[in-house]
Amino acid sequence: MLDCRSVDDLCAAIVGLAVRGAPALGAAGAMGVALAAATGEPLDDAARRLKATRPTAANLAWGVERALAASDPAEEAVRIAADDVARNRRLGAHGAELLPEEARVLTHCNAGSLACVGYGTAIGVVRAAHESGRRPSVWVDETRPVLQGGRLTAWELQRLGIPFTLVADVMAGSLMAGGEVDAVVVGADRIAANGDVANKIGTYPLAVLARHHDLPFYVAAPLSTFDPECPDGSQIPIERRDADEVAVIGGHRLAPMGVQVENRAFDVTPHELVTAYVTEEGVAATAVAALDAAASA
Ligand code: MRU
Repeated sequence: MLDCRSVDDLCAAIVGLAVRGAPALGAAGAMGVALAAATGEPLDDAARRLKATRPTAANLAWGVERALAASDPAEEAVRIAADDVARNRRLGAHGAELLPEEARVLTHCNAGSLACVGYGTAIGVVRAAHESGRRPSVWVDETRPVLQGGRLTAWELQRLGIPFTLVADVMAGSLMAGGEVDAVVVGADRIAANGDVANKIGTYPLAVLARHHDLPFYVAAPLSTFDPECPDGSQIPIERRDADEVAVIGGHRLAPMGVQVENRAFDVTPHELVTAYVTEEGVAATAVAALDAAASA
């Protein structure tokens, strides 16, 4: 548990990944504005600093803006947090219907309750299938460089009693070639208007592999992750992170000192590789259809 008593505390928690995952960032952003209002910090400056912490997840700016526009930012932040869990439950129920009995799902990064306020998006789909007796199991990508899969998704699934196997990211192709995967289900950090999806680095190669092996590739995300103002994936800002996340593992430096490192936190999966988008409003073949379903709900 981490107490954040100022916007600076919260910004440090976000940059340090103590709070991460797109929907959790949305709620945290709104809470940050509420915190600024409560402590007398100028709201616009707080909003700017919060949004600058992590540029890729659409939810962060969305949560900040929602709280800024509200007459009572604290009330709005609490509403966003409660709403997140309810939306994820609905999303999970829609997604579970896509999975066959005893589905072997491959997932990447952590899109479970630790990435949200609760329940999860991609893991919410698996949870809903588990709760309805469909007996899914999960291949959990460890997710280099900072191992959200090995550290967070594995922990969550263990607590939930959902069968899973932790694998190195590089094993996905072998699993698919061996007929051991029925579907790939991932979360998202930003979905552009044309349906291109930014998610944790390593998601795009999974989508390419899934297409090669004729497997469905599902993106599970709440509507707050969709960014209709962003025309396509080329316009999504991709966060670059510290070199030591790649060169140092568990406190041990594995690469020689001074090597050049490229550490992109996210990649973009082109919309053509996405089989369907699962949101709280249902399952849609395109991002436009997902937003239309939301508008008419
Ligand atoms: O760098 P992170 O850990 O914030 O990245 C998180 C992801 O990429 C998740 O897959 C995404 O935010 C969806 S979370 C429901």
